[in-house]
Amino acid sequence: MSKRTIVALPGDGIGRTVLDEAIRVLDAAGFEADYVEGDIGWEFWRREGNPLPQRTIDLLEKHKIALFGAITSKPKDEAFEELAPELKEKGLVYSSPIVCLRQHFNLDICLRPCRTYKGNPLNFIRRGPNGDVEEPQVDVAIFRQNTEGLYGGVEWSDPPQQVYDAFLTHPKFKKNFGSVPKEDISISTRIFTKRATERILRAAFDHARKYGYKSVTVCEKPNVIRETSGMMYKMARQIQQADYSDIELWNTNIDAQMMWLTKNPEDYGVIVAGNMFGDIVSDAFAGLIGGLGFACSAQYNPDTGIGVFEPTHGSAPKYADYKVSIVNPIAMIESACMMLDFIEEHDTAKRIRKAIAEVVAEGKVRTYDMAKMSGRPDVIEKGAASTQQMTDAIIAKL
Ligand code: NAI
Ligand code: MG
Repeated sequence: MSKRTIVALPGDGIGRTVLDEAIRVLDAAGFEADYVEGDIGWEFWRREGNPLPQRTIDLLEKHKIALFGAITSKPKDEAFEELAPELKEKGLVYSSPIVCLRQHFNLDICLRPCRTYKGNPLNFIRRGPNGDVEEPQVDVAIFRQNTEGLYGGVEWSDPPQQVYDAFLTHPKFKKNFGSVPKEDISISTRIFTKRATERILRAAFDHARKYGYKSVTVCEKPNVIRETSGMMYKMARQIQQADYSDIELWNTNIDAQMMWLTKNPEDYGVIVAGNMFGDIVSDAFAGLIGGLGFACSAQYNPDTGIGVFEPTHGSAPKYADYKVSIVNPIAMIESACMMLDFIEEHDTAKRIRKAIAEVVAEGKVRTYDMAKMSGRPDVIEKGAASTQQMTDAIIAKL
């Protein structure tokens, strides 16, 4: 097979550190690829007024697959302050490059798997019926709609008159908000389309079938958010009855789900939700399997084959300048495994995951988070592994 080209998008802070480590592991596993670096992140906002330059979009368009570290985002005013002086007059407004990537390439499917590694000291434990300690095996795959809903960006403060007038035609708006001055109102919309909803639902059901999960749980709030959550659940029922009768369809409310998931997390298989609830429920499940050092993700468009693979964590700026890096590279390395699965390099992905599992189970090499230390530069002296040492240990198992 011809050698692949992967777009490497290091971004900012620890994103740069962990991406290098993931590439080291891919090399050691014998995955043959060329890596071309794409510019993305804070530095490009400051220098060029654009955190996602067109040349980076072109690179991804051409090569289709990207590994992404993390970026730094700052609030509007701070972003403006840091802009190069000659750009300040241009009326530029900062917006998150990762959200721009999602929308530009319609990366509407976001998959965040959460699987327990045996022997991880950060695993969720609970008390059993006889007071004994149980460690449930979590294995869930969360499908989050990645482009619409509450993160779709259609929002206003002091909305334009036409928008306000349109809202007034809704009896509930009129009754509950009609007496509030327009300038005192902020509105964020939650738009679901049938097309995108069907795509995320089918992605979830297909995944359940392919990997042998017995159930798909729609995690929304259809009893209250009747139009959007209601539509998703109704479509899930239709799709399941028509095409996936071998897979059970479960329905939970996001609030109740947040309670249930510490009670019986091992009972869930595939979970599917809109953008915001998917974000919430995936962070919650990630907390049961080790938190940000372990949480990986894929976002892709099944039609174009364009995919971006990244850890859930951000750029953790306070750790970025440590002389010896202390952060856990596993979330990024796991994200690289998701990339391998996406391009059908399943054997290599499997070998890397097995190597990680062995290192975690052995328990000799643990980054500061796994050692339950607070993240200071002296954690290495106290026995925590550095980022590089964790990677070395994984490579040694390959
Ligand atoms: P963060 O995820 O960067 O860090 C939060 C805390 O989690 C850290 O202080 C550290 O204690 C821990 N942590 C994160 N990654 C870790 C790792 N690999 N190993 C061990 N511990 C780890 O989130 P924060 O501090 O809220 O945001 C920092 C910057 O990152 C902000 O500018 C934010 O906008 C951005 N961000 C970017 C994301 C992305 O690129 N997709 C996602 C989340 C935040
Ligand atoms: Mg999040």
